[in-house]
Amino acid sequence: MSSIAQSQGGTLTEINFPTHLNNERLRKWVEEMVALCKPDKVHWCDGTQEEYDQLCAQMVESGTFIKLNEEKRPNSYLCRSDPGDVARVEDRTFICSISKQDAGPTNNWIPPKEMKATLLGLFDGCMKGRIMYIIPFSMGPLGSPIAHIGIEITDSPYVVVNMRIMTRMGSKVLEVLGDGDFVPCMHSVGMPLEPGQKDVAWPCNADHKYIVHFPEERAIWSYGSGYGGNALLGKKCFALRIASSMARDEGWLAEHMLILCVESPQGEKTYVAAAFPSACGKTNFAMLIPPQAFDGWKVTTIGDDIAWIKPGPNGELRAINPEAGFFGVAPGTSYKTNPNAMESLSKNSIFTNVALTPDGDIWWEEMSDEKPAELIDWQGNPWTPDCGKKAAHPNARFTSPASQCPSINPDWENPEGVPISAFIFGGRRATAVPLVYQSANWFFGVYLAATMGSEKTAAAAGSTGNLRRDPFAMLPFCGYHMGDYFNHWLQIGRTVPTPPRIFGVNWFRKDENGKFVWPGFGENMRVLKWIVDRVHGRAAAVESPIGWMPRYQDIDWSGLEDFSFEDFCKVMSVNREDWKDELLSQEEFLEKLYDRLPKEFIFIRELMLSSLWRSPEHWGMVHERYVIHNDEEH
Ligand code: OXD
Ligand code: MN
Repeated sequence: MSSIAQSQGGTLTEINFPTHLNNERLRKWVEEMVALCKPDKVHWCDGTQEEYDQLCAQMVESGTFIKLNEEKRPNSYLCRSDPGDVARVEDRTFICSISKQDAGPTNNWIPPKEMKATLLGLFDGCMKGRIMYIIPFSMGPLGSPIAHIGIEITDSPYVVVNMRIMTRMGSKVLEVLGDGDFVPCMHSVGMPLEPGQKDVAWPCNADHKYIVHFPEERAIWSYGSGYGGNALLGKKCFALRIASSMARDEGWLAEHMLILCVESPQGEKTYVAAAFPSACGKTNFAMLIPPQAFDGWKVTTIGDDIAWIKPGPNGELRAINPEAGFFGVAPGTSYKTNPNAMESLSKNSIFTNVALTPDGDIWWEEMSDEKPAELIDWQGNPWTPDCGKKAAHPNARFTSPASQCPSINPDWENPEGVPISAFIFGGRRATAVPLVYQSANWFFGVYLAATMGSEKTAAAAGSTGNLRRDPFAMLPFCGYHMGDYFNHWLQIGRTVPTPPRIFGVNWFRKDENGKFVWPGFGENMRVLKWIVDRVHGRAAAVESPIGWMPRYQDIDWSGLEDFSFEDFCKVMSVNREDWKDELLSQEEFLEKLYDRLPKEFIFIRELMLSSLWRSPEHWGMVHERYVIHNDEEH
């Protein structure tokens, strides 16, 4: 079926609607967008390998992609972005709810009418000289009751090929959609081409960037950037900002969480979801390889960045990974730190802003102990180890299919999701926060997650100055008022019969010399095992003012016997004065949300404060062992 959209300038664009498309809203929206953006052509993405190969070949031709050495990195490409378009732009990201209060103080807001007028102006004719791609995509396994469908319209072929790895995309999505509901996701790089004008390798708009969400309408408009979370609209824009607002209305959770499965030697499977702010090792944790001494224990991966979690039929919370690929930070990833990620990116991958080796492969900082003698850096310039510049951009990324991950869980595409038994929250904290502790109950757990923070750099002992509070690791991604979000989490705990247990972790505790005490990586399995054993009622713990904590003997040290009781005290100690400071700093942050802050939070904080004030002897065994100590004692 064919249809012609008449754009204002009088040009006619053939839309070529797919046969059997019976979604009237989709038809109408596409017609309107074609008339607005005035592309030269419209292409409906079918999601086939042929289409992908053709688009990649076309981008090699135009200079956007470099084909990598087929022997070393089969079917893979390198892309260099504009140096001004390398990351998410939080200051250009807007939540345009009807009322300003609903966006809350942690989001940028502009009245939706005003924003619409700005966007209509910018999008008018923005695709002149370009092809408009229409990408039907499903976040989550096709047809899963936890999944949702979006349609992205974009003028960037880079977006199309990345979306094919990151989501389930193409004609089959339209079949599942039928005349159902979808989230319209409008994207343009914001660089129309005049007749005869030559394109650049990475088109974007240097002056105007807008990443805009209309939560009531459930619509996304993104203009001016071609990069990652700004342009692959299924990811942060839909799966977190719009979905979090859908989840609030519908009684579920859309979270910035990895999902993993711990399998015991007896075959018992425990699913865990964990939230850490960006660049705190989420992908590494999701793909953890247990230490050798943990013979028979296995960790498998369901997702590394986003979890959609809905109440299941038996009163449990069931989670899916709405994505189909990894958009991982490349620098720091190596066979030492994360062999599963390295295998995932061994083929069929797209690399953005990494360095190119002389033999047509890729490299980034810390990929190997030895730096290559020469490279072409992420900006296309010659690079040598002593040139004083980074070879890869610190936010360089790999886009790789999750199916290529050796640790992928056999149920990662189960449409019913997996049952979650525990939530873990962690940040980067040099001081104060212990290696692991369990919240007394759901409400304390929600408070723990709401007050989590991460340091940009190592803080001096006792100082909390460098801290950014990042509730639930959702600060840049929550599509509505953070106070309402906390209330929503509390409400889930009231309605789910057996809510998951909640834990706090901190892999980043430092000693008095500023050295990390905890080895991290695979050794995190020891903490994970205690968490799993707690969930199943098998592991012991002692009570402290901030929750339940393991004693030295409650952790399995097989193969790491030289991690002493003294070392353990260093990562586990909770200092009274530090925690008084911590609670004060938490209050300072929460005050910003005062108008919608749950009342429970005030009582929880008071309760923690008053238990901290009590004499340390009160904690009996806990005190004796290590947990609470006085000033005089340290
Ligand atoms: C990401 C992020 O890209 O959190 O996943 O920044
Ligand atoms: Mn993320």
